[in-house]
Amino acid sequence: MSLKTYFLQVKEVTNETSDSVTIYFWHPLSEQIKYKAGQFITVIVPAGEGGKKIRRSYSMSTSPHSDTSIGITIKRVSGGLVSNYLNDNVKVGDFLEVLEPMGNFHVEPDADKSRHAVLFAAGSGVTPMMSIAKSILKMEANSRVTLIYGNRSEDSIIFKQKIEELEAQYGKRFTIHHLLSRPSDLWVGHKGRISQGIAIRLMKEADTDFANDEFYLCGPIGMMEDVIAGLGIYNVSKDRIHKENFHTAIAATEEDSVDEEDSLKTQTIKVKYEGSEYEFEVKPHQTILEAALDLDIDLPYSCQAGMCTACMGKCIEGKVKMDEEDGLTEKEIKQGFILTCVAHPLTKDVVIEID
Ligand SMILES: Cc1cc2nc3c(=O)[nH]c(=O)nc-3n(C[C@H](O)[C@H](O)[C@H](O)COP(=O)(O)OP(=O)(O)OC[C@H]3O[C@@H](n4cnc5c(N)ncnc54)[C@H](O)[C@@H]3O)c2cc1C
Ligand code: FES
Repeated sequence: MSLKTYFLQVKEVTNETSDSVTIYFWHPLSEQIKYKAGQFITVIVPAGEGGKKIRRSYSMSTSPHSDTSIGITIKRVSGGLVSNYLNDNVKVGDFLEVLEPMGNFHVEPDADKSRHAVLFAAGSGVTPMMSIAKSILKMEANSRVTLIYGNRSEDSIIFKQKIEELEAQYGKRFTIHHLLSRPSDLWVGHKGRISQGIAIRLMKEADTDFANDEFYLCGPIGMMEDVIAGLGIYNVSKDRIHKENFHTAIAATEEDSVDEEDSLKTQTIKVKYEGSEYEFEVKPHQTILEAALDLDIDLPYSCQAGMCTACMGKCIEGKVKMDEEDGLTEKEIKQGFILTCVAHPLTKDVVIEID
């Protein structure tokens, strides 16, 4: 899958909190970049050792329906290469290399629709929610949005002021519930994390219709699992629950590495791509994509989280295990398609073909 690359010029840089920044880009002169509310772009920056280029995905926090420029908001991750690079180095006028917008976590507003979208976000997970909320509120006069947003403390709330502006602009059509896990003594709002119980209570307060409303989740995996468990009690069908996982394959692999190493072994595999055949080892803690990139084998990829399908290949021999299957349809999985960014070889004879 070949992805379009852009070199976007930075129009504005705004500090949102002490550890997060929004970077706004000009559209290229030749083209208005199209994206859907909730989608992400992947930036490629020389943030690695010796200036090695590294890719990371960031959801647009702007709306394609109400903002003229494209904006991404990046929260620092402790010790993180790209999030700190972007927070520390990017200034107005710079050009950043980015891959085209992608992702299945999105809404397409429809002026004839009348819906209630319930958005759950924690920390930087609010970025796609801002895009989704602004888009629905602007384009669908009969729809309403409830945002349930968890943070640590008052000063870690990204978009605090922009959220207040949405409340002022849209009145009853937009409701915000902030939850803080470590608020100051002056905080009079909800306290604690977004748990199953709190999620249910706030959804009921928001007059949620569990049989028809739509639910969007982005935050730590535990929070999303809790909310999904809560929705399960009300038999909310899976097709109305949409979730975005910011945790990259790298993070997931590190967390799971103890269990993984029990079942996975170092395997030598073959990958056929663009007329070449590469044979290389994949260690238990690596995904197939990571092993290839470590050897400077230039395979296609973007999000590294099993969501965009840029790294899709077909396993034509042997067996592969995927950490995350949500990015592929059941049919694709049955046909042998895999995502190399979340895949590990299970047998020694694995051969993968990438178009
Ligand atoms: C589809 C998608 C959309 C995303 N959108 C956004 C966004 O809008 N805003 C945003 O700030 N981030 C977003 N992310 C996360 C982002 O891509 C990076 O993973 C994040 O900035 C960390 O990258 P890094 O290079 O700084 O850290 P790395 O150098 O990759 O990691 C450093 C350490 O932090 C851990 N780590 C990695 N990612 C996270 C994380 N998200 N939270 C906590 N610990 C982590 C790693 O396990 C590692 O130990 C998104 C991710 C995906 C997959
Ligand atoms: S790189 Fe996006 S799914 Fe693998």
